[in-house]
Amino acid sequence: MPLHVVNHPAASHFLTILRDKSTPPETFRRVSDVAATYVIIEATRNLAVEPVAIETPLEPMTGSQLAQGIVVVPILRAGLSMMDPVLSILPDVAVGYVGLERDEATAEARTYYLKLPELAEKKILLVDPMLATGGSATHAIDFIKEKGGKDITFICMVAAPEGVQQLEDLHPDVPIVAGALDRELNEKKYICPGLGDYGDRLYFT
Ligand code: PRP
Ligand code: URA
Repeated sequence: MPLHVVNHPAASHFLTILRDKSTPPETFRRVSDVAATYVIIEATRNLAVEPVAIETPLEPMTGSQLAQGIVVVPILRAGLSMMDPVLSILPDVAVGYVGLERDEATAEARTYYLKLPELAEKKILLVDPMLATGGSATHAIDFIKEKGGKDITFICMVAAPEGVQQLEDLHPDVPIVAGALDRELNEKKYICPGLGDYGDRLYFT
């Protein structure tokens, strides 16, 4: 499945503020909301719709409504930053959670929480701002598929080529939408140039 990188001047503007190490946590949180909204709008551009008959104050018309139930699954912690932007622009969204944490030494993801709603027939938006090695996203997609999820889109703010490759190898049916595709991972598996640890910058830890 193809990687789609969002190409919007305002999204790049806000991502640059997030990347700047002098951006304080309060600004980071606010700008994160705005930047994520651009990425999510792009990622949901092709949602299925169906016709619906309504009446405007002037006359009857056939409008359109979303045809498929939507589930958003943030990968804790940092994925929580993308949940409000999803909920604020899409109707009737169910929410599931996957808690994953990278080991600081090995960069291997460890699961500490899992709660998923009914997933069959749903459009699943898996959100996590950072796709580095791809370990966290791969685990989360494994859980979602085990629970019957099929129509999954992975949405992130910054992706590394290594993580994109891992997802394309292990879950080729899952499209990736990213705010930016960066150069590479460093020896500690951080994305470069990146923006550092998203969760730490968001939660001031
Ligand atoms: C970060 C990020 C992703 C993961 C990406 O989370 O939010 O979940 O790392 O790295 P990967 O592609 O190599 O798995 P982290 O594990 O630091 O936890 P946090 O969200 O609680 O900060
Ligand atoms: N997780 C982050 O938050 N940042 C990185 O660069 C890599 C993983």
